[in-house]
Amino acid sequence: MAKKITVRTIQKIKENNEKFSMLTAYDYSTAKYLDEAGIDVILVGDSLAMTALGYETTHAIGVDEMKIFTKAVVRGVNHAMVVADMPFLSYHTDIPTAVKNCGEMIKLGANAVKIEGADDYIYEVIKRLVGCGIPVIGHVGFTPQFLNTIGGYNIQGKSFETAQQILDQCKQLEQSGAFAIVLEMVPEESAKYISEHLTVPVISCGAGRFCTGQVMVCDDLFGKFSDFKPKFARKYGDMKSLILNCAKQFNEDVKSGNYPNDDEVFKLSEEELKQLF
Ligand code: KIV
Repeated sequence: MAKKITVRTIQKIKENNEKFSMLTAYDYSTAKYLDEAGIDVILVGDSLAMTALGYETTHAIGVDEMKIFTKAVVRGVNHAMVVADMPFLSYHTDIPTAVKNCGEMIKLGANAVKIEGADDYIYEVIKRLVGCGIPVIGHVGFTPQFLNTIGGYNIQGKSFETAQQILDQCKQLEQSGAFAIVLEMVPEESAKYISEHLTVPVISCGAGRFCTGQVMVCDDLFGKFSDFKPKFARKYGDMKSLILNCAKQFNEDVKSGNYPNDDEVFKLSEEELKQLF
């Protein structure tokens, strides 16, 4: 069996100039198949608020719901590192609450947590979490939990100045103890510059080709989520059509009497049957 991916594995991948893959998963069987396929890191992303629960943004989901999805994913995984995405306001109010909520995810079997943002408070949160033995992935560039203050789905780091600001944030995240950083919606040249100036691996989420890791939302990869498609998402399958076709065929089969067939029903013994009819 393949060895469990750890923080050390991820660090070595950066040191050796190699790459790693990261996908979201929200349920047991998807997590199981991603793990079987050799995906290195499985993120229980708060994107599930949109893709699995149908909300418009990630703000609606809370810690209690994230715990349910985290438990399901953990049960499906042997090899990959499981990262629990900490939802909106679960780590922002004060450090004890952040430690409690992040610690719950580790108790449930997650191997690390991911938190968004970069300011003095977030750096302190990361230091405390790492001090408690909780590995942390940072997340900067476009940060969906800050959608309302950012003012839209805007690309970040489009100038030398803003790329430099993001690099400064990443350096602080690194110094605070984050073992990897997700960089979302950043031009690839800026991401390359940022990645080359850090010792921790940068994970691209729409930040181009020069990062150590690449992450994608599984529903985009499978072609399941169809409300919108981010420019950086690549559709590897057409699960929407697959689901539609299966459901249409089932609907027709039920109505035409073609489902269930003889092999798909339970039968009474001859003896019992005689008493009924
Ligand atoms: O919630 C999520 O799925 C994420 C990734 C897209 C990085 O944060």
